[in-house]
Amino acid sequence: MTPSDLDLARVPEHVACVMDGNGRWATRRGLKRTDGHAAGEEALLDTIEGALAIGIQWLTVYAFSTENWRRPKDEVKFLMQFNENLLLRRRDELHERGVRIRFAGRRDWRVPKRLLRRMDECIELTARNRVMTVTIAFNYGGRAEIVDAVRALVAEGVNAEKVTEAAIRRHLYDPTMPDVDLMVRTSGEYRISNFLLWELAYSELVFTETLWPDFRREHLFDAIGEYQARERRFGGIDDGK
Ligand code: IPE
Ligand code: IPE
Ligand code: MG
Repeated sequence: MTPSDLDLARVPEHVACVMDGNGRWATRRGLKRTDGHAAGEEALLDTIEGALAIGIQWLTVYAFSTENWRRPKDEVKFLMQFNENLLLRRRDELHERGVRIRFAGRRDWRVPKRLLRRMDECIELTARNRVMTVTIAFNYGGRAEIVDAVRALVAEGVNAEKVTEAAIRRHLYDPTMPDVDLMVRTSGEYRISNFLLWELAYSELVFTETLWPDFRREHLFDAIGEYQARERRFGGIDDGK
């Protein structure tokens, strides 16, 4: 699909991507799994360009989950270094395109200090941009996010009856982030894998067999075409209004 096949007045405000299948992409080519992660960079940048082209406001991408620490030490180490380098390589062009870069996840001791510094530099550099917000979910877990929100509420001494959905939302990693309209997962895996549990409550889910390193803006447009063909009811009924 191309942008002209889409209804540009009904583009989802917030799209989230589970960038999955890097390892299989590499293995099928007789390459190392880490080569697959490296090849994912172009997919990410092209997806961002596509999102910019059709006016998506929020794009959130799953880069490293709280469960990904279970991977072999070398792969984890590669991913830390790779993400740091990616930020260094790409931050200026993203800044020029008006992208605001944010991060969602736990800033715990396992994340290298140097990477945390790069993240802070990106946040600071792009803080005033408003064309699109790209949130990188890094050391992110949906359950951890909810636990962290509840902890913050408890630390404030909030009474039980004041624990509402709105109160929890205000304590999520980015309280200004809207609910996800469309979640896309690549590589033919049909699960959420602890991504954005709260924000995905009413999202439309689109799954594609394409492996992440092969994903390009056309695949994003395909997913949006599918989204636009769906009927969102939010628990109500379609009464034609
Ligand atoms: C997604 O690709 C990237 C990360 C989880 C960091 P995978 O590495 O999970 O690739 P597959 O699923 O093993 O093919
Ligand atoms: C989800 O992919 C996490 C990221 C894409 C960063 P995984 O490959 O880690 O998910 P599972 O293990 O197949 O559920
Ligand atoms: Mg995977």
